[in-house]
Amino acid sequence: MYWLGIDIGTGGSRALLVDRQGVVRAAFTAGHDDMTMERPLWAEQRPENWWDAAQLAIRGVLAQAGVKGDQILGIGLSGQMHGLTLLDSAGAVVRPALIWCDQRSQDQVDWINANVGAQNLLAWTANPVLTGFTLPKLLWVRDHEPANFARIRHLLLPKDYIRFQLTGEFATEVSDASGTSLFDVVGRQWSWPLVEKLGLDKGILPKVCESQEVTGAVSAAAAATGLKAGTPVVGGAGDQAASAVGNGIVETGIASCTLGTSGVVFAHQDSPAYDPQGRVHTFCHAVPGKWHVMGVTQGAGLSLQWFRNQLTPGLSYDELTAEAARSPIGAQGLVWLPYLMGERTPHLDAMARAAWVGLTAKHTRADMIRAVIEGVSYSQMDCLRIIDELGAGIRSVRLSGGGAKSEFWRTMLANIFARPVVTLGTQEGSAFGAALLAMTGTGAFASVAEACRATVKIVDERRPDPLPETATAYGKTYAAYRALYPRLKPIYSALSE
Ligand code: XUL
Repeated sequence: MYWLGIDIGTGGSRALLVDRQGVVRAAFTAGHDDMTMERPLWAEQRPENWWDAAQLAIRGVLAQAGVKGDQILGIGLSGQMHGLTLLDSAGAVVRPALIWCDQRSQDQVDWINANVGAQNLLAWTANPVLTGFTLPKLLWVRDHEPANFARIRHLLLPKDYIRFQLTGEFATEVSDASGTSLFDVVGRQWSWPLVEKLGLDKGILPKVCESQEVTGAVSAAAAATGLKAGTPVVGGAGDQAASAVGNGIVETGIASCTLGTSGVVFAHQDSPAYDPQGRVHTFCHAVPGKWHVMGVTQGAGLSLQWFRNQLTPGLSYDELTAEAARSPIGAQGLVWLPYLMGERTPHLDAMARAAWVGLTAKHTRADMIRAVIEGVSYSQMDCLRIIDELGAGIRSVRLSGGGAKSEFWRTMLANIFARPVVTLGTQEGSAFGAALLAMTGTGAFASVAEACRATVKIVDERRPDPLPETATAYGKTYAAYRALYPRLKPIYSALSE
């Protein structure tokens, strides 16, 4: 018997088949259309395209493993967070989703702060409201597309649109709801005082459950995917909390670093502590009664992807990192700021812009690539530094996502984090975490922690270089990196006009 984890990412949807021992038996990814970026900082995707890809991935993984729908005991969903997914009364998509990296809603953030008050927001949702989050995107539609706004009957998050297609239900779970700016993260329910203060229709919000809870079952209509009608579907989790479950981040003292399109440093919390400046997010964990804190680099893998697409089309990521390894630490005085889509942690600035600073005629392409990889790593260190300030006592970091495949990047991160960096037997992150939640929710494991203990295995560990010169060289470049943003900030708004 098997369980299915389905992750609705940014680049594609992935379905993963896991057996009773938690061993991955097959995986299938179907790509999404590129996000539409009609203007700088806008980013949209079509929910219908996610569903097409999810169906392909489900059929693909079943065919690859030669498994029938009636051999699947449960399904868990994970997905890119924050995306504003709007349905009308007939369940049709109202407009393309404004996804997590869409930064158009600064006016709405300012309006919410002025009308609700930053202190109330912190008290009611445990976080400041940010352009990346769902609420200001909803208010952007209210302000700019009143006809679309009037048609809204359901607000969902990306993976919950797939749940709707699979089960006919409007439901989400606590970890993803936390990223909407409409959720009482401490009380694990919608923030009704905030919904009321904003004059929003309560009825558009889906029901909320814990991540391992069964929310519904595959409908007869969705059986066309090859799944069996009646198969239970659990809440699942936002991609970061799901990935943390897949990486066993269900106790204090260890953090994960997930290098996908975005880069996220994530730590478990037994009780919800938050950064008074809101530079890291405090959200519900996919573990009942637990929370997490995470810092987000908007343009992590995206930086390397952008570099490759624009400057070295056709080169593989392995070729890029091999070339970067020929440049010394600090890339001969060249620094990359990875703010291609503004930045969240630590700047909370949608207007921030990316840059190489320090270019001279002697720099090579290898230096430029190395600077990009270092810059993304320094930004992840910014996240870890704030999590350290919250007293999380992080002793080691578990790496996953595309970046974890590179030995060069793993070693660099151990040096920059000044802590051991480990990788795990299963590099599947979010889809694997979603499958473990499905296993827990259908009784294969007694708890999420037990599922992690049984399945998560360390296979590689990189330790910081004992040579003090290495730490000194990275420390010097990191200091330059940190000094740059405050100096460049005054010119960003001029550039964006
Ligand atoms: C987390 C976040 C991203 C997206 C896309 O807050 O915005 O990690 O979930 O992966």
